[in-house]
Amino acid sequence: MSCDLKKIPLPPAWKQKAEEVKSVDVAPGKGTREGTECQQLLASTSRLLSPAPCLLGPEGQSCFLLWFPRTGFAIRVPAQARAVLRLVLGVPHVCLSCLGTPLLAHTLWLATSVLAALGMLAEPHFKRRPGVWKMLMAAMCVALLSGLQAQDLPRQVSIILLGATGDLARKYLWQGLFHLYLEEVGKGHHFRFHGTALTSTEQGQEVIAKVLESLSCPGDMALGHCAELKAQFQQLSEYRQLKTPEDYLALSKDIEAQVEHEGLRETGRIFYLSVPPFAYVDIARNINSSCRPGPGAWLRVVLEKPFGHDLHSAQQLATELGSFFQEEEMYRVDHYLGKQVVAQILPFRDQNRAALDGLWNRHHVERVEIVMKETLDAEGRTSFYEEYGVIRDVLQNHLTEVLTLVAMELPVNVSSPESVLQHKLQAFQALRSLQRHSAVLGQYQAYSGQVRRELQKPDSFHSLTPTFAGILVHIDNLRWEGVPFILMSGKALDERVSYMRILFKNQAFCVQSEKHWVAAQSRCLPRQIIFYIGHGELGSPAVLVSRNLFQPALPSASWKEVEGRPGLHLFGLPLSDYYAYSPVREQDAYSLLISHIFHCRKDSFVTTENLLASWVFWTPLLDSLAHEVPRFYPGGAENGQLLDFEFSGGHLSFSQPLPEQLVPGPDSAPLPSDFQVLRAKYRESPLISAWPEELIARLAGDIEAAAVRAVRRFGKFHLALSGGSSPVALFQQLATGHYSFPWAHTHLWLVDERCVPLWDPESNFQGLQTHLLQHVRVPHYNVHPMPVHRRQRLCAEEDQGAQAYAEEISALVTNGSFDLVLLGMGTDGHTASLFPQSPAGLDGEQLVVLTTSPSSPHRRMSLSLPLINRARKVAVLVMGRMKREIAMLVSRVGRDPKKWPISGVLPDSGQLVWYMDYDAFLG
Ligand code: BG6
Repeated sequence: MSCDLKKIPLPPAWKQKAEEVKSVDVAPGKGTREGTECQQLLASTSRLLSPAPCLLGPEGQSCFLLWFPRTGFAIRVPAQARAVLRLVLGVPHVCLSCLGTPLLAHTLWLATSVLAALGMLAEPHFKRRPGVWKMLMAAMCVALLSGLQAQDLPRQVSIILLGATGDLARKYLWQGLFHLYLEEVGKGHHFRFHGTALTSTEQGQEVIAKVLESLSCPGDMALGHCAELKAQFQQLSEYRQLKTPEDYLALSKDIEAQVEHEGLRETGRIFYLSVPPFAYVDIARNINSSCRPGPGAWLRVVLEKPFGHDLHSAQQLATELGSFFQEEEMYRVDHYLGKQVVAQILPFRDQNRAALDGLWNRHHVERVEIVMKETLDAEGRTSFYEEYGVIRDVLQNHLTEVLTLVAMELPVNVSSPESVLQHKLQAFQALRSLQRHSAVLGQYQAYSGQVRRELQKPDSFHSLTPTFAGILVHIDNLRWEGVPFILMSGKALDERVSYMRILFKNQAFCVQSEKHWVAAQSRCLPRQIIFYIGHGELGSPAVLVSRNLFQPALPSASWKEVEGRPGLHLFGLPLSDYYAYSPVREQDAYSLLISHIFHCRKDSFVTTENLLASWVFWTPLLDSLAHEVPRFYPGGAENGQLLDFEFSGGHLSFSQPLPEQLVPGPDSAPLPSDFQVLRAKYRESPLISAWPEELIARLAGDIEAAAVRAVRRFGKFHLALSGGSSPVALFQQLATGHYSFPWAHTHLWLVDERCVPLWDPESNFQGLQTHLLQHVRVPHYNVHPMPVHRRQRLCAEEDQGAQAYAEEISALVTNGSFDLVLLGMGTDGHTASLFPQSPAGLDGEQLVVLTTSPSSPHRRMSLSLPLINRARKVAVLVMGRMKREIAMLVSRVGRDPKKWPISGVLPDSGQLVWYMDYDAFLG
């Protein structure tokens, strides 16, 4: 079959391309020279075509192609069906002659499904013209046959390992590739492995030769067979320098030539980037522009962490990579997802649904621990570690991935990557924001010295980078509310072990004496499920379930019962008290992941959305800890109990006070405890000043004392609270540390509100709800949000929200005199929502007013100054260095509320107290 392209009317750009080919012999099967030309033609033409399917083939010939440029798939169809296809699909007809070339990768399912879809679409035509149906059937048969023909061609996957001489590649990746080869070679796949790096060809070849020599086969493989396969693998592996765009082009051409020479069909290319992240973008550009495989073959690009340093940099990198690759082409590795035990979490939850359904929730789970302890320190890696530290290195990725696998709702289909991702993202959304007090940080003593040596820093240099962190995470949803999730990791600790442990509540009372308790029966023995990721005393990965819980189901082909180890205790119980399973064949994480890349198992990789959700969660904490001084620890067994920590309320703290003699410590940052709370006067009123932590504790204590007094005298306490960021720490303190606060008799009012719906994150009420109301028991009818949203409108004068609030106050608060009003002070001297140069609310009769703020959202509702001044006590909380200037200014000015509304705060007969932290007061 051949065609004369000259006779065919083509658009000029295609014509020019088509001219280069003239006439092409169509020989099904092997890639002929013409076939290759045709392949190139198609590749270049594909950029001109829209992604819509099009018909390819010469007019007047007996068959042509239905081609899907996006995917590169083509189906061979008899010419008689063309009219129907054009009618139904409305596609352009491009005339070329490329039938039967190896590039046309057909698949049976595609042919069948497309033609079936056509059948459905074209049904009305068939009714009128039954002959068409016959033609379509014939088309389907031909397509299936061609599909089969294409399937017959031996397939090749090329794997390009960038950074092939590096540490990770030498330790794990080459072994992982060899493992893939062993697994797949007998299944009809051909492989080529191209190790690449910036290293010169000679040096690189030398390194690679050594690595290849050291590869090992699984223990159960016969030596002879292993040697044979290893020799094959060595032959199929090469090293080349990959530096310039020309190198990439040459690599691509070499792959194409080799595939053609050997009569193979290229199925896909995997680029594994084991390189530092600064190199990603250049490499991505080169792959995209000159090293993509031809149509019909897939591209997979594998990336190693770090994927950014914080949300902003992660977003930037994701956008850059996204401009070169489709999401489905990217495989971001988190090697913890390749750990056999981690990979088993979802299948385990799925296979044991019946037993776990009632247990996997806040009613039964006491706490969850996700831990990675290491004995090694960061020596030799400090240039990386100084920039990242333990939270970015381990918690933001490995431990967070485990956290989401435990916390997420279980999808109906756990093997659907889309469902898993959606459920993971929902879990991220339910994570409560982390505060400075959600973390404890440590640094092994030798670290700063190592940094000084490796990075040539002066002797005075002290690093603040944490090498140890404990973090307390809470999940605000119905399943996990109140359950502490503890994430912990550190270098230079006493042992190497990783695990995720779920400890269940002990809700039983056992009547029989303890000596008669039997592991499988007693509900009083500890009950736990442990995903033992590796190392530790057990020495191998395992899933452990207390015998008094249930006997778990694990796939018997790949998991076996752990043999007894008399004397071995894990998490307080002898091993024999657990149902314990370990993998039949231990596999390292990279081998598993490489196999998953090959099999397109995207659920084992981190998607862009997943990655960014994790950074959204961690970045604020990292920012707030940037200047935190870590606790220094000696390293190894000598750490003793120094790093033990405990939580109460939402706070985490070291259990032991800091032993002063351990390390002199960086000279900076004095601790709050170094100072007494300072008492003085400010604007003639009492001033209390301290470091933030102490100041907040003092203010919370004073509020509680006022509440107790008011309830004792009047039976209720009317508290009016401001919004914004300063009171957040106060709300948290009140929520977690004040158990005798008379909440049941407290009325909560708002000092001011932004004109946004109450559920808007900018709403002051929303802040109060998040940080205080949801943690304490204030009766609903005692909570008085400002009515800024009435009749579906925001702060409309005609809706009289301000008047309504004033009436509510008058009705409930005797003489409109609040027991305590908490105010803040803005950098422009505003207080409540009373702003400079805006007269509303500064004097007059109105109790509540609508005002205008210079910053967005501009419309506000506020208590008026006269109402504020009726209070029994007014507390003004001023925190942060940003307030220093206004604090100085206001200390000197007289009463001039038009210029500085705060200066108008002077209770008629009540008391005014200023609470300022040292940053605001002393600068
Ligand atoms: C890596 C971290 O991701 O994980 C290292 O960068 C850490 O700092 C390593 O040592 C631990 O992995 P594993 O597999 O030994 O638990």
